[in-house]
Amino acid sequence: MIDLSVDFGKFYLENPILTASGTYGYCDEFDAFLDVRNIGAIVTKGITLEERPGNEGKRLFETSSGLINRIGLENIGIEAFVNRKLARLRKLGINFILNIAGKTEEDYVQLAEISQREEIPAIEVNVSCPNVKAGCLEFGTDEKCLYDLVSRIREKYKGFLIIKLTPNVTNIEDLALAVQNAGADCISAINTVKGLGVELNFSGTKVVKSLVQGGLSGKCIKPVALSMVKRIKEVANLPVIGLGGISNLNDMLEFFTVGAEAIQIGTENFTNPSIAVNLAKELAEFIVKQGFRDLKHLKEELRK
Ligand SMILES: Cc1cc2nc3c(=O)[nH]c(=O)nc-3n(C[C@H](O)[C@H](O)[C@H](O)COP(=O)(O)O)c2cc1C
Repeated sequence: MIDLSVDFGKFYLENPILTASGTYGYCDEFDAFLDVRNIGAIVTKGITLEERPGNEGKRLFETSSGLINRIGLENIGIEAFVNRKLARLRKLGINFILNIAGKTEEDYVQLAEISQREEIPAIEVNVSCPNVKAGCLEFGTDEKCLYDLVSRIREKYKGFLIIKLTPNVTNIEDLALAVQNAGADCISAINTVKGLGVELNFSGTKVVKSLVQGGLSGKCIKPVALSMVKRIKEVANLPVIGLGGISNLNDMLEFFTVGAEAIQIGTENFTNPSIAVNLAKELAEFIVKQGFRDLKHLKEELRK
């Protein structure tokens, strides 16, 4: 048995491969077909205080090497999650992280309190949401708003606190430092990149247009994600979970090289639902074949 573990102190992973929020539901769709206990951890679909129906109209737009989504945080709400999903996740015996999102600071604080009450071991905070009260475009794009938000969550939640950063900013370094100074345990990066899909259908001289504005994910965003992880690691002294366009072993190794301790698989789950389970096996085989002692040794060599 090769040691693939990642020990964050407050939170332990058997292996460094996680599934990203919004691409693995609450695990219901997968556990009948796959041994999901072989996944390092599953990050749930983003949960808000109240149930949300999400956006109307076209929600997904495929590009040549990625996907644009405007799901609009459709989810069942925290109480339904606690009543219907939490016990099942615990019974399955899988490691999971609750992804939370809110419109106001109070939303996030309440979600943090409920997470603490329910003894949820780790939460990932999606900060790419509008801050109505403070008038911020998004919490995650303003370092002061982000610092205040994370500090308030930290007061209420004592478990492993991950803040998920958006790449749609000029200085990711300032935001990473705000997260660190506010007392978070870890950063995950990146969320989706703002994008626009344009579909044109011609009937003679008549054009029918469909514009889909949303978050771009998948293979095409990997270089952006790698750059963001590297820049965060250059300034912040927090562990980073890297994600964005990972679809194979080599992609994962690239993220380890720039300092990620663990990775998440997102869009690739849609075309290859068993990728997270298979990658753990592939990583162990690679470590043996190349003659590394364990995952820690591989990471050390990649970062020399
Ligand atoms: C359909 C879809 C839904 C998503 N929903 C969420 C969400 O609810 N919360 C969140 O933090 N990120 C969400 N994301 C972003 C992903 O978790 C991930 O950060 C992003 O897709 C980049 O990774 P990837 O290129 O591997 O997909 C979603 C992404 C997709 C494609």
